[in-house]
Amino acid sequence: MTAVDFEAWARQQLADVESALESWVPAAAPAGLGEAMRYGVLDGGKRLRPLLVLGACDAVAGEPVAALRAAVAVELIHAYSLVHDDMPCMDNDVLRRGKPTVHVKFGQAQAMLAGDAMQALAFEVLTPDEGVAPALQARLTALLARAAGHAGMAGGQAIDLASIGRTLDETALRDMHRRKTGALLQASVLMGAACGRVDAPAWRALADYGAAVGLAFQVVDDILDVTQASETLGKTAGKDLDHNKPTYVSVLGLDAARRHADDLREQALAALVRSGLGAAAGWLAVLADKVVERES
Ligand code: IPE
Ligand code: IPE
Ligand code: MG
Ligand code: MG
Ligand code: MG
Repeated sequence: MTAVDFEAWARQQLADVESALESWVPAAAPAGLGEAMRYGVLDGGKRLRPLLVLGACDAVAGEPVAALRAAVAVELIHAYSLVHDDMPCMDNDVLRRGKPTVHVKFGQAQAMLAGDAMQALAFEVLTPDEGVAPALQARLTALLARAAGHAGMAGGQAIDLASIGRTLDETALRDMHRRKTGALLQASVLMGAACGRVDAPAWRALADYGAAVGLAFQVVDDILDVTQASETLGKTAGKDLDHNKPTYVSVLGLDAARRHADDLREQALAALVRSGLGAAAGWLAVLADKVVERES
């Protein structure tokens, strides 16, 4: 498997995800809500979470129809989390994915409702009347709901806001990052794996892979906030320091944060070896590298 193979595979997956999002995120929701939803979801974003779902599904020779729905659903939850994260009551950001944020463009109430509606749509997408076995629908729904809610993303975001201006020790910082960002990334991997058959040791190994990649993702997000320009990121650089947020850079320093991201990549790759999936897990191995090496 080469980098060229990965790029070709990823291009095809991303095309499928974009066209599914294009057809499932409604234009015709009442009073301009559809326009705000489509603005927040379409046309932008690296789509890393969908690639993790589809890479994990590929690793276990899973059911592609279910995996595409899971990929779209997790991206919808992620996009909703960004819309709310940017609102004045949270990070108060004006730039996202290279465009004005949803609340800047459509107003705060519409941004809040667009996020709400994206979250509901994610679960609608996971539970079609036909095409995915009911037991698998229930499994995917449970994985995504747990990762998005109080124990995962929403809980992590609450810790993030409660931590402004405070110093966290590394244990508390890790817990916050695992929840606010890691949980959805890990759920992406596990939803892809749930689309096929995996034994308990392979499931545990994929959970370890997802946890390592998920934490690495936010460590790198913290690093990029201080090392990259807003134009590269498509979002405002330097916000964490401005807002007095404890991050891996503020707690460990830049060099140690970078070393930590590399350690997490090694942990992710070791977990893939433990999974026993061999070459079938090749896309996941490349994705671990991309998470750590990314520049935006
Ligand atoms: C940004 O996520 C928010 C975090 C969870 C750190 P991404 O960097 O994946 O954002 P997009 O989807 O590419 O815009
Ligand atoms: C966001 O973390 C995590 C989410 C759940 C959206 P950040 O606040 O660091 O994300 P960015 O840097 O604004 O994308
Ligand atoms: Mg935030
Ligand atoms: Mg933010
Ligand atoms: Mg950030």
